[in-house]
Amino acid sequence: MDRRGVAFGLGSVGVLGIVAACSRSGSAQAEQTGQAAPPVRSDLYVCEGCEATTERAPAGLTPSVTLAPPGTPGERLRLTGRVLAADGVTPAADVVIYAHQTNAQGLYADGSSESVWSRRHGRLRGWVRTGPDGRYAFDTIKPAPYPDMTMPAHIHLFVQEPGRRPYYIDDVVFDGEHGVDGAYRTHQELRGGSGIVRLTGNAEQGWSAVRDIRLERHPG
Ligand SMILES: [Fe+2]
Repeated sequence: MDRRGVAFGLGSVGVLGIVAACSRSGSAQAEQTGQAAPPVRSDLYVCEGCEATTERAPAGLTPSVTLAPPGTPGERLRLTGRVLAADGVTPAADVVIYAHQTNAQGLYADGSSESVWSRRHGRLRGWVRTGPDGRYAFDTIKPAPYPDMTMPAHIHLFVQEPGRRPYYIDDVVFDGEHGVDGAYRTHQELRGGSGIVRLTGNAEQGWSAVRDIRLERHPG
């Protein structure tokens, strides 16, 4: 499901959890670094769920956070990266990144009653704020695709720079896995660069993935 201002269609926030809205992908971060700045997107702020990015005060955030506590069913995953300014070179400090994802069953389950987004996005969500080097890390589990397998397994990411409105960037998806094929690559929006990452590690010891983010230019 596309997240650009389209209703979730989630009237059924079920007992087991939710299969919620999604955006499409991104670009291999390293491939983007140093390239010419992308054009300004007039629809940069058109986004469903961006409000969740502002649910935590930036001052209280750190560059790393645990989305999925130890013991959460699933294969461990450490997602890291560096946020760069639109020039593709300068580390971007104090950028808030909000992440949410499905669990190992492919569901946005066990959300709290804190907000509409805490219910829709499920339990596996969290915020970081980049340090001076622009780096961030999420300790989590590897998400599973939705049960209907209509999309690749993915992690949603939103970013917000100080004094700016938040926007979504291409989902983190896993190269070589279900749905990450030629058609997917062709239709990437490449917001924040590509979200296609390569996993290293293994299911037993845990996976690692790097999703660098090149910030978008702001309209106006
Ligand atoms: Fe999703």
